[in-house]
Amino acid sequence: MVESFPPLRNDLLLRAARGENTERAPVWVMRQAGRYLPEFREVRALHEFFEVCRTPDLATKITLQPIQRYTGLLDASIIFSDILVIPQAMGMEVLMAPGPHFPDPLVTPADISKLSDVVDVQKELKYVFEAITQTRKELNGEVPLIGFCGAPWTLFAYMIEGGGSKTLQKAKTWIFKYPEESKALLLRIADVCVDFLVGQVKAGAQLLQVFDSWAGELSPHDFSIFSYPTLVHISTNVRRRLEAENLPSTPMTLFAKGANHALGFLAENAGYDVLGLDWVIDPVEARRIVGDKVALQGNMDPNLLYGGRDAIETAVKRMCEGFRKGKGGWIANLGHGITPGVDPEDLRWFFECVHKYSSAIQSS
Ligand code: CP3
Repeated sequence: MVESFPPLRNDLLLRAARGENTERAPVWVMRQAGRYLPEFREVRALHEFFEVCRTPDLATKITLQPIQRYTGLLDASIIFSDILVIPQAMGMEVLMAPGPHFPDPLVTPADISKLSDVVDVQKELKYVFEAITQTRKELNGEVPLIGFCGAPWTLFAYMIEGGGSKTLQKAKTWIFKYPEESKALLLRIADVCVDFLVGQVKAGAQLLQVFDSWAGELSPHDFSIFSYPTLVHISTNVRRRLEAENLPSTPMTLFAKGANHALGFLAENAGYDVLGLDWVIDPVEARRIVGDKVALQGNMDPNLLYGGRDAIETAVKRMCEGFRKGKGGWIANLGHGITPGVDPEDLRWFFECVHKYSSAIQSS
C-alpha cells in the first residue's frame, strides 16, 4: 500500500487528465526544474547531475524549486530525475558531460549479455522512490506529483548511440539488421519500465508520464513495430499491476514526440489517458483527430519563451482558444522541455497568461 500523505488541495491536473473540462487549464512545463533557474544552477555548481538524482534530499529540493518560485501558478510538480536511470539500472554506465554519454554503448546484439540478467528495480532505483516519497510529503498536498520514465524505443536508442545523435544511424542499423534481437531488447526495457512506474506509484506518484522523445525518428510503419507495442505493454501491465496490488488507479500520459501521424490510433488503442503534443500540430486539429477519447497536453513552441511578452501572450491566447474549442481535458504545457536560456520571469508570464486566457475562455 501507499503510505498516507497530506490531502491534495489542487486536483486540476488529475481532473483534466481524466477528461474533465476544468474551470481553468492546469499548467506545468517539461524540465520545469532545470538550468534556466539560477537556484538550480547553484545546486548543480556543487553537485554532479546523477549525484543530484541519487540523493533524495537534493532531488526533493530541486523538484520543489519551481513550485516555491511560482507560488500559486503551477498545478503539478515532476520528480527531478532522468530517463537514463533505467539504462543505469540495467547495468550500463551513463555520464552527463554535459549531454548524456555512455562510455560503453551496445554495439552488436552480443553486447546484450553485458546487461544485468535480472534487474531488481526496487533496489537499483530505490533512490528515485525515496525522492518521490520525500517530495510528496514536502509538497504537503499543494499540487500533485508526476512520476515518469523513458519509453523503450528512446532508451534503446540512447543505449546504442551512446548519447545524443542527429540521425540515430546506429539504433536504426539495429532495428533493420537485427529486428528480432531489437524487439526482444525493447521488451526487456519495457518490463523494467513497468516495475519502475508501479514502484513510483507505490512511493507516491499521482500521475505517470512516458517520454518517447525520439518517436518521430521512426517511420509510421517502424513506429508501429518498434515503439507502439512496447508502449501498450507498459500501459496494460502498469494498470494490471496497480489493480492487482491494490494501488491507486493512476492517470498515464504518453508524450510521443514527432509521432503526430499516430495520434488517432494512439488515442483509440494505446491505453493512455493523456497524449502529450509537440508544437508542430495545431490544437484544433489534434482535438479533431482524437475526439474525446483522451485528454491532451501541450503544446506551445518552447522557443516562443524567447519572443518577449507580447509574443508569449498572443501564442498562449491562441493555444487556449484552440484547445478549449473541443470537448475533453487539456493540460497546458510546452511542446517540449524548457531550455536553459529562458528568463524565469518570462516563464512566469506564460503561466499568468494560461491562467488568464484558459479561464476566460471556459467561462465565456
Ligand atoms: O521535467 C522535469 O523537470 C523533470 C526532470 C527531467 C530531466 N530530464 C532533468 C534533466 C526529465 C523528465 C527528463 C527527461 C529526459 N531526459 C528526456 C525526455 C524528455 C525530453 O526532453 O525529450 C530525455 C531525452 C533525457 C535525456 C537527457 N537528460 C538529455 C538529452 C539531457 C541533456 C539535454 C540538455 O538539456 O542539455 C539530460 C540532462 C538533464 N535532465 C538536465 C535536466 C534538468 C540538464 C542537465 C544539467 O543539469 O546539467
